[in-house]
Amino acid sequence: MENQKDLIIEALQLAIRRLLRLVVFLSILIVLIPLFVLNLTAIKDYLKSVGEDDLTPQTVDTTALVTTEIAETSMYWTPPSLNLINDDKLLDEVIYGKELIMHTAYYLGPKGTVAQQSNGLNCQNCHLNAGTKVFGNNYGSVASTYPKLRARSGKMESIEKRVNDCFERSLNGKALAINSPEMKAIVAYLKYIGKNVKKGEKATGSGLKDITLLSRAADPEKGKIVYENQCASCHQTNGEGTKDEHGREFIYPALWGNESFNDAAGLYRISNMAKYVKYNMPFGISHENPTLSDEDSWDVAAYVVSMPRPHKNVPKDWPDKSKKPMDHPFGPYADNFSEKQHKYGPFQELAKK
Ligand code: HEC
Ligand code: HEC
Repeated sequence: MENQKDLIIEALQLAIRRLLRLVVFLSILIVLIPLFVLNLTAIKDYLKSVGEDDLTPQTVDTTALVTTEIAETSMYWTPPSLNLINDDKLLDEVIYGKELIMHTAYYLGPKGTVAQQSNGLNCQNCHLNAGTKVFGNNYGSVASTYPKLRARSGKMESIEKRVNDCFERSLNGKALAINSPEMKAIVAYLKYIGKNVKKGEKATGSGLKDITLLSRAADPEKGKIVYENQCASCHQTNGEGTKDEHGREFIYPALWGNESFNDAAGLYRISNMAKYVKYNMPFGISHENPTLSDEDSWDVAAYVVSMPRPHKNVPKDWPDKSKKPMDHPFGPYADNFSEKQHKYGPFQELAKK
């Protein structure tokens, strides 16, 4: 009897010891596994940040969170501060260039104080924040990629030629003389803000952000409803915008009508319009928090480009027809799709060509 009790106690003790060991082993595992996983992500983040940026070891020596934040804020191109310019003459020129981008109409519009050269739009109406806003059609890649061969003209284009393209089309006006103080100032500004981008490379977040193609044609009728609900409060129901008290500059620029860009301008192409609007309008949104759906963006773009505006004859555009962008709304084309389909889509088949 005594013996049997001992045996049972012994077996019980053994079982308890095993159980305890199992518990200890499991707790160690529970503590170690997450530590290991966390560590791995921290190591990965560290390696990534070192690869992406020229961070100094001290900066990296903080937590993984801080290093990812640094990587994120420096993900997109930002212009160097004008305060860093030491040369006074250059500083004056760059500041005047920025002024001309922001208030083009004040200096060069129909009531311009320097000359009457262009319509009432400012470059900044389409190149937001003086051409520095991420995906706001910014100038980050201009200094690094020009002079370049452009398919539209089939020629090598200098920055001056490209600026004058926008004067003649987007501002429905006349080209500036290459040696005018205004052209020199604009070019000095464009070169200065893009100076830290490597030659031949594109700045991240420059130009416009891509938008998904619809499987149907964009619809001006549907776009009219979007326009009335989301755009007319600023750009007006007649699309002609509103001006300041002197009638010199727009407060809300004209989207169509005599005072808007002409039909040879880049923004007259529906894909550019849809991309610009989706990631920048209604005014104040950023590409990170768009409020319009892709469908609404295409439809409202269709409505805007369906409205009347100045016409410019450009028979020399796209000397190589096969290089015409899919949404160039004027023939002749290298394919058999209609002008209407090239203007409004559907683009899926066109995009494949
Ligand atoms: C109505 C809108 C609009 C206005 C106003 C406008 N632009 Fe543009 N600009 C565009 C669009 C859209 C593009 C891109 C076109 C494309 O890629 O087909 C562009 C492209 C450019 C580029 C080339 C950018 C690059 O990365 O290749 C330069 C430089 C430029 N514009 C300068 C100006 C200047 C300077 C003014 C004022 C004198 C101006 N633009 C006014 C719409 C506009
Ligand atoms: C809160 C006012 C406001 C609303 C709403 C608004 N915009 Fe704008 N829009 C502006 C301003 C201001 C500019 C010029 C920005 C600048 O100069 O900095 C502009 C510029 C534009 C431009 C380029 C300039 C031009 O004349 O072509 C287009 C295109 C445009 N808006 C389309 C739209 C569309 C489409 C909608 C509706 C989805 C819309 N906007 C809603 C204020 C607004």
